[in-house]
Amino acid sequence: MPKILRTVSETRDFTNLYDLVNRRIGFVPTMGALHEGHLSLGRKARNECDCLIYSIFVNPIQFGPKEDLARYPRDLKGDLEKLESIGTDAVFFPDETIMYPEGYSTYIDVGPVGNVLCGKTRPGHFSGVATVVTKLFNITGCDQAYFGKKDYQQYTILKKVVNELNMPVDIIGVDTVREKDGLAMSSRNSYLSKDERKAAVVLNKTLKFVKDNFIRFKTKSEILTKVTELISSEKLADIEYAELRNASDLSDIRSIKKNKLVLLLAVRFGTTRLIDNMIVN
Ligand code: PAJ
Repeated sequence: MPKILRTVSETRDFTNLYDLVNRRIGFVPTMGALHEGHLSLGRKARNECDCLIYSIFVNPIQFGPKEDLARYPRDLKGDLEKLESIGTDAVFFPDETIMYPEGYSTYIDVGPVGNVLCGKTRPGHFSGVATVVTKLFNITGCDQAYFGKKDYQQYTILKKVVNELNMPVDIIGVDTVREKDGLAMSSRNSYLSKDERKAAVVLNKTLKFVKDNFIRFKTKSEILTKVTELISSEKLADIEYAELRNASDLSDIRSIKKNKLVLLLAVRFGTTRLIDNMIVN
């Protein structure tokens, strides 16, 4: 079984042993309820680093007051078994008082990119993500950290944070792992009813349609009209946003011919909000 580290000093003592002999520490931050998507990050890290550390921490400061913090799935025993199967050395599993002791008040402001897309309906979310990830990097002293491109805005923002704050960590992006029918794996898929689960396939189908037919489109609005039409054909789907942006920094685009573009979707099925994205050109 991976070693369970519950405090900052225990974690520092553990990783210092690797630092002393110049070994690379690979780190995968998660909120637990692990699935193949989470494990794919660790497998890549296992191949590229000498030591593999996961963290499991459901980070309260990235959840809004009406979000699913209380019902977020938790399964430590199952998680540890999965992490053992991929050769994880240690798991940092702090409780809330370790991460945010009473009086805690330091937060990272990620700027305007944190207020678009998911940030529009989740104010403060990316500040919460950037803050916890920075703390986790400082606690683990990792050299390389692995993030899924499934959460494309998170991945893009964290690359920017690390660059702008001169943090000595390489951010490695990993492609989205999908179910057989194309639905992106997510801990939140477990909230879906049978009918919603079937309907949710429309996300991947729509992204793939745009990618496969990209050369036929002339403008951004033509693409977004088609996307809305495809998703709305699924009765249970309620679109929060569908946007086409510059894949390198999520900036707005004028022409669809010049840049590498990412199509990003957030769609609700009942009370469950799913996101997905794809590079389409
Ligand atoms: P969580 O949702 O648990 O995801 C942990 C990591 O797994 C993230 O980098 C996410 O992008 C990646 N991931 C999730 N589903 C994936 C899939 N289907 N394919 C590939 N990678 C996938 O993201 C978070 O936690 C938190 O915001 C965190 C970064 C841990 C900060 O609290």
